[in-house]
Amino acid sequence: MENYKEQLDLACEKFRKILEKQLVRVEDMKSQGDFTDYGAIDTIKIGVCGGDGIGPIITKEAARVLEYMLSDLVESGKVEFKTIEGLTIENRIACGKAIPDDVMAELKACDIILKGPTTTPQKGDGMPNIESANVAMRKALDLFANIRPVKVPEEGINWCIFRENTEGGYAVGSSGFNVTDDLAVDFTITTKQGSDRIARLAYDYARKNGRTRVSLVTKANVIKTTDGNFLEDCHKVAELYPEITTDEWYADIMTAKLVDKKRRRDFQILLLPNLYGDIISDEAAEFQGGVGTAGCANIGKKYAMFEAIHGSAPRMVREGRAIYADPCSMLRAVVMLLSHIGYQDRADRLERALDICSFEEKRLTITGRPDGATCADFANYVMETLEKV
Ligand code: IPM
Ligand code: MG
Repeated sequence: MENYKEQLDLACEKFRKILEKQLVRVEDMKSQGDFTDYGAIDTIKIGVCGGDGIGPIITKEAARVLEYMLSDLVESGKVEFKTIEGLTIENRIACGKAIPDDVMAELKACDIILKGPTTTPQKGDGMPNIESANVAMRKALDLFANIRPVKVPEEGINWCIFRENTEGGYAVGSSGFNVTDDLAVDFTITTKQGSDRIARLAYDYARKNGRTRVSLVTKANVIKTTDGNFLEDCHKVAELYPEITTDEWYADIMTAKLVDKKRRRDFQILLLPNLYGDIISDEAAEFQGGVGTAGCANIGKKYAMFEAIHGSAPRMVREGRAIYADPCSMLRAVVMLLSHIGYQDRADRLERALDICSFEEKRLTITGRPDGATCADFANYVMETLEKV
């Protein structure tokens, strides 16, 4: 056998650096304060970034609805909007960074971000393989909870997915390496603090919203250490919520059970590590009408970011269909934004209007093609409906 000493030494050195950074992160988590109290700050700064592909189109419409709903607060100075340019794939490639420094500074000067989808490069697609802007933002702003609601009223589906958002396969997803020409390695990370904080948020949400069941989803039978710890830490939190039933599922059988019409309506809250959460939330959204209809909240102690659960749909742009993109993903994200900053009554109103437009009245439908409504027309329809609820 060849002597790989040099490669092994190099790999160990890289691995050590990864672990050192993660240990710093653990210390940061330990010293973190409480969640921002939006009622207590004079002016809530909301940054709006359009992103790539269909991003600027759907974000513009969502921001228009949001500004309309908060116009009195903008007037009184309680809320301030700021457009953040420069989070485009072209700019990110030119800077060689997932988030250019000036954009990062602008993001950090806001309390809340409304963000359109951004294009994520991958190996072999002809772009420099920089880290995803979503992932970088979630990590930089420590947005540890990705909350993704899905509901299909006529089928009794009302799920809320709590996806851990800064760890798992994503924590150092861009720091894997080729040890030799033949051997490559990536890493998955779980910390006690990381599991504890997402679990607390999920169980708190369950308690506050009268939900009675939390389902933990892992592959702890195979990924024994990290998923095993995640499970163990979630169970510790579960003990603090004795009125809530906790059950465990492996991610593979969960994907199957979600298509089982007899069983799936029984699920309420899914609590899961990052990568499983990514995959299962797309599957879940499909029952609601596709990823174009699903938004999410990325919540941290200091910052929060609201976005669609889907990507930038470059194919729609290439085929000239971008104006027919569905703004509902971003509008659902706006519902979560309003609720997060303390305006639950306005969140409920927008949710009601969206439900009427999407599930009940359906005067306009979005198909993503010229046979459907445009993104702007649909947003107008939602705004007209808001007047009636
Ligand atoms: C999501 C997306 C992102 C993710 C991509 C674009 C990096 O799929 O928000 O679910 O994997 O988290
Ligand atoms: Mg995804």
